[in-house]
Amino acid sequence: MELKGKTAIVTGSARGIGEGIALVLAREGANIVVNSRKQEDCADVVNKIVSMGGNAIAVGADVSKKADVSGLVAKTVEHFGAVDILVNNAGVESMPCLIQDLSEEQWDRVLAVNLKGVFLCCQAVVPQMVKQGKGRIVNISSVAGIRMTFLGSMDYTVSKYGVAGLNQHLAWELADANITVNIICPGGVQTPLLEAATTPEYREMIVKRLVPLGRFTTTEEIGEAVSFLASDRAAMITGQTLAVDGGMLTGFGEDLRAVVRGRMADIKAAQEAQK
Ligand SMILES: NC(=O)c1ccc[n+]([C@@H]2O[C@H](COP(=O)([O-])OP(=O)(O)OC[C@H]3O[C@@H](n4cnc5c(N)ncnc54)[C@H](O)[C@@H]3O)[C@@H](O)[C@H]2O)c1
Repeated sequence: MELKGKTAIVTGSARGIGEGIALVLAREGANIVVNSRKQEDCADVVNKIVSMGGNAIAVGADVSKKADVSGLVAKTVEHFGAVDILVNNAGVESMPCLIQDLSEEQWDRVLAVNLKGVFLCCQAVVPQMVKQGKGRIVNISSVAGIRMTFLGSMDYTVSKYGVAGLNQHLAWELADANITVNIICPGGVQTPLLEAATTPEYREMIVKRLVPLGRFTTTEEIGEAVSFLASDRAAMITGQTLAVDGGMLTGFGEDLRAVVRGRMADIKAAQEAQK
């Protein structure tokens, strides 16, 4: 229960990775503000937390709208009296496409949620965290925020690279207020977002080609990493990026293992034959 008594806002936590994060933080004793655009969508996750013996409220707010975000923070402080942890998780994906097929609407929508939403939420919680003398901000980016992938389109990659810039600025800016700011980059996590953008065959191929640990990450495994960064154990970590991706960023998956090991065995055999 290392987050007992803390209050966490987890944006986009009505399902998927956000739900996993909310449940792990609640298990660690944090009060949770479950958020999605519509308040009614948050009821299931709130009920799960309450049935675990935790505290949670649902607050509907669109993270890309400043007035909604102000309301989200105000309702949190009104109900729980503080905001100790902000997890910027809400995000939208778009179908992979070439630049000539990328509409201005799609670009604006993805950047508004994935990048401007992070900015607005940080801006809204900072005065409260400064007043409290401490805070933790964890931004959920993507491996696409470290290296482009074919899983999403360019707008998605750009939005996540933008989060990296914001993260560095804020980590520096808020250090003297004892607020840490870090990024978690999930690789593949099977959520409605990933399912909408892929087919089962495509997902299987991605795991074989790109994930050395041989499977997608679970939402709870992302939650565990967030929980660590939000805890006192991570007090001296700020401005950092942690990929929780099963080794995806090595660039080589499980299907190369036999090939590479075979090549190494051949080299060794040739060297021994020359002795
Ligand atoms: N699933 C993956 O493989 C994967 C990989 C890398 C990064 N991510 C990132 O993880 C985060 C969560 O992804 P997910 O797969 O759980 O997605 P998801 O679509 O399953 O869930 C996203 C949640 O955010 C909410 N949301 C969307 N727009 C919102 C807005 N404007 N305001 C408030 N809430 C909003 C949705 O209603 C939903 O509840 C995203 O930032 C995504 O980019 C996901």
